[in-house]
Amino acid sequence: MGAQVKYVLDETKIPTEWYNIVADLPRPPSPALHPGTLQPLGPADLAPLFPPELIMQEVTAERQVPIPEPVREIYRQWRPSPLIRARRLEAALDTPARIYFKYEGVSAPGSHKLNTAVAQAFYNKEAGIRRLTTETGAGQWGSSLAYAGAMFGLEVRVFMVRASFNQKPYRKAMMEVWGAKCVSSPSTETEAGRRVLAEHPDTSGSLGIAISEAVEIAAQNADTNYALGSVLNHVLLHQSVIGLEALQQFEMADDYPDIVIGCAGGGSNFAGLVFPFLGEQLRGGRKVQAIACEPTACPTLTRGRYAYDFGDTGHLTPLVRMHTLGSAFVPPGFHAGGLRYHGMAPLVSLVQELGLIESRAYNQTPCFDAGVQFARAEGIVPAPEATHAIRCVIDEALRCKQEGTARTIAFNLSGHGHFDMQAYLDYFAGKLEDRNYDEAVLQAALADLPKVPA
Ligand SMILES: Cc1ncc(COP(=O)(O)O)c(C=O)c1O
Repeated sequence: MGAQVKYVLDETKIPTEWYNIVADLPRPPSPALHPGTLQPLGPADLAPLFPPELIMQEVTAERQVPIPEPVREIYRQWRPSPLIRARRLEAALDTPARIYFKYEGVSAPGSHKLNTAVAQAFYNKEAGIRRLTTETGAGQWGSSLAYAGAMFGLEVRVFMVRASFNQKPYRKAMMEVWGAKCVSSPSTETEAGRRVLAEHPDTSGSLGIAISEAVEIAAQNADTNYALGSVLNHVLLHQSVIGLEALQQFEMADDYPDIVIGCAGGGSNFAGLVFPFLGEQLRGGRKVQAIACEPTACPTLTRGRYAYDFGDTGHLTPLVRMHTLGSAFVPPGFHAGGLRYHGMAPLVSLVQELGLIESRAYNQTPCFDAGVQFARAEGIVPAPEATHAIRCVIDEALRCKQEGTARTIAFNLSGHGHFDMQAYLDYFAGKLEDRNYDEAVLQAALADLPKVPA
């Protein structure tokens, strides 16, 4: 038999505990602040939106948090996900680098988002909640929550950013197959949506606006909670299953990454793979170079300011300390819908401030170049979000070739692009525009950041 390609774990190896990086950081994350008083939030402030167990997970400093058995049982439908050695890409690049990717596109909705959707649906069901509301950009998160709602018998309503809603009608159909309702955002169903539509009837929408809509409905109905697909500490916690499995798979492969790479929208995909490796490093283990990849059109980590800001455009959410482009930010209509958020997970922002990770921004055309090159070698058609990580991987592998170094590179292939074919058609037709976020617009948005007493 030839050299091994897939490292596949037995179902019994699905982690029994999630990993929380807070326990290993040299300083604790800054507290979230109440949007009205600007004072640190208490658990009661979050109770209208989240069930008690998720509020506890949001603030815990415990290193390990047990994964409930009913969640592990559903994880078994697609986990453990494979770790794949990209031997054909290595050959195509003629690089001495060893390239591995964790493939999260094997979940039924098609991405990593299901790891937290299942957990969030479980805890809400346990707390007696009947309905969940949420936002979605690319549609991957909305589809995942729809699937999780079907598993636990919860109603799900998804506000989908208008640009993606129009680009991807089949995502809506998929959510409906799993019993969820999907509406284009901004919508006339909420005060927040109506306000935006009155001022900007032609808006392409944004995650910040869609979050305001979903939060508004949850806050007004006792039987309804809100679920967020990224950014928050508990979401990053749930995504740690990716890196925890990868650690076991690298042991099987008798290898260990020198470089770990992920694309970053709200940060949970990147953190999911990277944090368990950073945890090993922080506890005295091997050092890794960690690189977060984002679009130049939404350059949160590379050009945003590390400051307190609102999580949404309507200013209904708590303020968190993060890299932000300003909550009024509406990105240009590029194709990686899941990377269009104005902020970044506070924990990803903090590890960047601590110098534990670096970030790079890419234009979409070179990302699609990389995605197509990857698909022609490895077969899998990547989601546009994931092509940002692949661009970085190929650049690093070519650097290895130039320098004659055989480094091990690991990345998270967060999802497949089967619902993103319009993006690929536009790429082949030469219709993609590469846009930098204008410096003057950025500075104006940052000037409006909320003033928080030191
Ligand atoms: C395929 C895919 N990858 C990555 C992301 C970004 O995820 P995160 O917010 O966890 O950074 C998304 C978000 O929707 C996505 O759909």
